[in-house]
Amino acid sequence: MSIIYVDLIDACHMKCPTCVRGTRLLPNSSRRIPMAQFERIVAKAKHEGYENVGLYNWTEPFLNARIADYIRVVKSLDLNCEVSTTLSFRGRTALIEESLRAGLNRLIVSVSGFTQELHQINHRGGNLAMVKANLEHMAQLMAREPIKTQILLRFLRFDHNQGEEPLVADYARQLGFAFEPLQGVGMVDNPISNYAHQEGYLERLRDYSPARLQMHDGEVCPLIMETVAVDANGMVSLCCANPNYPALEIGPYLELTREEIMIRRYAHPLCPSCAFPRRAATPEDHKHLLGALSVRLKATKEIGSLGESPGDRSGISTDLGSAGMLDGLKGRLKRWLAFS
Ligand SMILES: C[S@@+](CC[C@H](N)C(=O)[O-])C[C@H]1O[C@@H](n2cnc3c(N)ncnc32)[C@H](O)[C@@H]1O
Ligand code: SF4
Ligand code: SF4
Repeated sequence: MSIIYVDLIDACHMKCPTCVRGTRLLPNSSRRIPMAQFERIVAKAKHEGYENVGLYNWTEPFLNARIADYIRVVKSLDLNCEVSTTLSFRGRTALIEESLRAGLNRLIVSVSGFTQELHQINHRGGNLAMVKANLEHMAQLMAREPIKTQILLRFLRFDHNQGEEPLVADYARQLGFAFEPLQGVGMVDNPISNYAHQEGYLERLRDYSPARLQMHDGEVCPLIMETVAVDANGMVSLCCANPNYPALEIGPYLELTREEIMIRRYAHPLCPSCAFPRRAATPEDHKHLLGALSVRLKATKEIGSLGESPGDRSGISTDLGSAGMLDGLKGRLKRWLAFS
């Protein structure tokens, strides 16, 4: 399943300690992605073969009052559309209804408890009564109208709330919604702001070592092959598992080819030391990677023949165009060719 995540807005009202947005490592701003820019992003994504559009990454999408219009743009291009939300707000009933009627395919509702007491430990600032009122309103609406949205109640599981998982599962069943437990990442009593500052990422970039500790030939990171994350400024970030810090920006989505985005991400100096689980590369992955590497090598050769340093045009701080990195790319290309 290939998916492009696009943040419609640059804010969240919650303060989850396990989230870079919740702890304001990513500070809220008033930025909203302009509709015309969004339309071009989705059209490009469709052209590049993405089948799904997620209107979220590190934000709360329902804070954008035009969410239903964005959903309509996605649906007009015949793509699947999904949203992840806390539903922890009041006064947005009409917006929720309009979003479902606009043809939203999937709505993920994240909770971390069945009682307010436990829910608010991770969903700090959350109000479970409002969440339940919105969920129950949707169930009633869907009983009256032919709305096809799949509603998925996602339970973020931590040590402190495991006992409430069956209660949330039962509740989802009663409402006719799907249920999914998901292991919560992070620690509720040790906020992510204690250890995931942009400075830490910059240090990892400065300490870059070519040793590929976590990368093995024939394996790929599924996030690079199947997903791309674009923030409310239209910038591609390294991946949806990491914050969209300026230090991890790949470049403007609309100005880069799919191949350039893939190669900048695949060769990113943070990945070799990242422990995110890889999977075996498929023939389709081979095709995409070889295509991207070939385009980059050809472009670099052409730039080189003009007498410029390839790094001058890369536009990013990770120095992908330097001679050392180019050798690395050539080496990888050879390995991939031998492998496929
Ligand atoms: C960062 S959230 C943004 C969307 C929305 N604000 C929400 O919380 O659903 C993106 C996804 O991450 C998931 N998520 C949030 N906190 C998490 C955690 N501590 N561990 C694992 N997944 C988490 C949510 O369920 C959501 O689908
Ligand atoms: S996990 Fe979602 S709800 Fe919680 S702070 Fe992050 S973006 Fe907001
Ligand atoms: S940083 Fe980790 S999760 Fe992100 S793309 Fe690289 S390997 Fe994948």
